[in-house]
Amino acid sequence: MKDNGYEYSVVRGFAFSSVFWLIIGLTVGLLIAFQLVAPKLNLAPWLTYGRLRVVHTNGLGFGFTLAGIFACTYFILQRLTRTSLAFPGLAKFHLYFFNVTIALAALSLFAGMNTSKEYAELEWPIDILVVLMWVIFAINVFATLIKRKEQQMYISLWYLVAMTVAVAVLYILNNLEIPVSWFKSYSAYAGVNDANVEWWYGHNVVGSVFTFPILAMFYYFLPKSTNLPIYSHRLSIVAFWSLVFAYLWTGAHHLIYTPVPDWIQTTAIAFSMFMIAPSWGSVVNGYYTMRGDWGQMRSNYLVKFFIFGITFYGLQTIQGPTQALRSLSAVLHYTDWVPGHVHMGTMGWVTMTISASFYYMIPRLYNTELYSIKLANTHFWLVLIGQLIFSFTMWIAGIQEGTMWRATNPDGSLTYSFLETLVPIYPYWTMRALGGVIYFVGMVIFAYNLIKTAGKSGAAAAA
Ligand code: HEM
Ligand code: HEM
Repeated sequence: MKDNGYEYSVVRGFAFSSVFWLIIGLTVGLLIAFQLVAPKLNLAPWLTYGRLRVVHTNGLGFGFTLAGIFACTYFILQRLTRTSLAFPGLAKFHLYFFNVTIALAALSLFAGMNTSKEYAELEWPIDILVVLMWVIFAINVFATLIKRKEQQMYISLWYLVAMTVAVAVLYILNNLEIPVSWFKSYSAYAGVNDANVEWWYGHNVVGSVFTFPILAMFYYFLPKSTNLPIYSHRLSIVAFWSLVFAYLWTGAHHLIYTPVPDWIQTTAIAFSMFMIAPSWGSVVNGYYTMRGDWGQMRSNYLVKFFIFGITFYGLQTIQGPTQALRSLSAVLHYTDWVPGHVHMGTMGWVTMTISASFYYMIPRLYNTELYSIKLANTHFWLVLIGQLIFSFTMWIAGIQEGTMWRATNPDGSLTYSFLETLVPIYPYWTMRALGGVIYFVGMVIFAYNLIKTAGKSGAAAAA
């Protein structure tokens, strides 16, 4: 690929860092899935479920996904602005700083340091590193945008800007805390306020990491891979502004039937329903882009990933709003339904889109062809099957749990003790672990394919 003086080594570095954290995060994910069915697997204090669950969520959310996002951002940014990175040296520093920060984060979580706020578990010294790392990234994003040679800001750039601003604001506000020692701090907020800020952060960080940049990749790489222009730029922009506006109001849907004021819950529910429209704006835009050329689903392996990915996004953004409704939240909250929702998004939408983006980028970055399209197809089917088994079993388990917990006898007492509701869930957890193994094999094949692709180029250069 012509490099126009663009900085690609950092893209390669982030791409393979992403693959590294993927394998670590998934291995831990498999272990916790098996621990739920075989508690004997809690082998040592630092290998117990409580410690490992956060290594899994942070490792995949902030290790695998963020590194993938940085790789694609540095790639897309330079190409859409038609200019090289403003500070290539800073970007290289970002790469090393990011990996050191994630490694320290993982070690601290293994060691049991944990603020106990979900997705904000890291203790304050690591929070400071995360903020510095983000500032370094943001400087490059904005400085490159300022010196851009292409005036038009394509939709992917808008989503990347939204991510860059939103993560900074959310992370800093939710992590305001009072340190009491090097390894312990207490939140600056108390009680209901703490919960409210935490889920305002929690929901939006999911949006800013698992939605905005993934949509940026989708909008950039789908037209690139298919040679088809995006169906409607206007629709993409309308969907963007309404999505970012609505997102910020919905966090309290995680706190239905809690002491958070009723009006806040109702506002969150109303905005959650509204979110169907802008989310589907992107889904429809994706489908219409393929109009008249659906044959590429068969002939172009990348299209399968993108179209299934956006379909899972579409399903996710119908499921999410409906589970925010009071009547459904009453049954489904606290149950396995929620991990079912989460993994349709992460194993379906996020994984498929990042995978296809890498399959597009990596061969071009190494001036070679993909090592094996056959393996990429196998990867696709394993991920699809593994994810469907995971999500479906969790949805069924969630409905069963929710209804058993609520069942009452004519005298008003509970029909089932908690233990009685737990035992029938074991087969679902076993199925989930098996679904995880299938997905894991798919992702190992993905990693192998990329490594062999990079190696092929090295071998060709040496010959
Ligand atoms: C082999 C594949 C995977 C397996 C076996 C797996 C397993 C698990 C398990 C057992 C849990 C805990 C559920 C609970 O507490 O009841 C979990 C939670 C979670 N996982 Fe995974 N996971 C996998 C892939 C992924 C991927 C690819 C991502 C992100 C990119 C991810 C992100 C998360 C998140 C965010 C949660 C927290 C969900 C919540 O709090 O409801 N997982 N995973
Ligand atoms: C219109 C968009 C969406 C809405 C309105 C929505 C709504 C919700 C709701 C109401 C919950 C809480 C369920 C409960 O605990 O009872 C939830 C959880 C979650 N959703 Fe979504 N969702 C949306 C899209 C997505 C997408 C695209 C992802 C990407 C992976 C995602 C990831 C998550 C995660 C990680 C959680 C678990 C949070 C936790 O740890 O408890 N959601 N969502």
